[in-house]
Amino acid sequence: MSRMQAIQADITTLDVDAIVNAANEALAGGGGVDGAIHRAAGPELMQACQRIGGCPTGTAVLTPGFRLKARFVIHTVGPIWRGGQQREAELLASCYRESLRLASQNALATVAFPSISTGVYGYPLEEACSIAVRTAGDFLKSDETIKELTFCCFDERAFSLYNKLLDT
Ligand code: AR6
Repeated sequence: MSRMQAIQADITTLDVDAIVNAANEALAGGGGVDGAIHRAAGPELMQACQRIGGCPTGTAVLTPGFRLKARFVIHTVGPIWRGGQQREAELLASCYRESLRLASQNALATVAFPSISTGVYGYPLEEACSIAVRTAGDFLKSDETIKELTFCCFDERAFSLYNKLLDT
């Protein structure tokens, strides 16, 4: 059975080992899923982010989940879409790989991702979903720590795209 699934939900409500945040390089908080996660986790999350100081695009860092049900938050920074010739695909794949590597290294078995870069950062949704599913699927082939990987979709369109990709 596949260890990947798609659901339609608010990622801040999920009871998993780690949720992934679509952050910015300064880890300064913001709108979208980042804002929602900071609101739900409480001010300690911003303090933890400030202690870390930053996160280059395509990499990931780990903090506790504080008031979230999720025990940890993996903050990753997706590329801003600039037309596709600025290594966007490579950087987006790196976000998924680096986030999963952190989860695995910390023995986190259940992980949920939002659709990184597809909101404020403007990455075309279909391309982003296909990179997400392909990169995560490849990672799981050589990893046994992660038991359940959830693509948590905010809207119907993303949910049906992920379902299509996961079916094939
Ligand atoms: N649960 C799950 N998914 C959500 C939620 C939620 N509560 N809220 C939004 N999404 P975005 P980005 C979806 O803009 O494009 C921030 O200001 C949303 O529908 O949150 O990577 C950061 O600080 C979309 O599909 O992240 C950065 O500056 C996806 O999450 C910048 O935005 C990602 O949209 C990052 O932009």
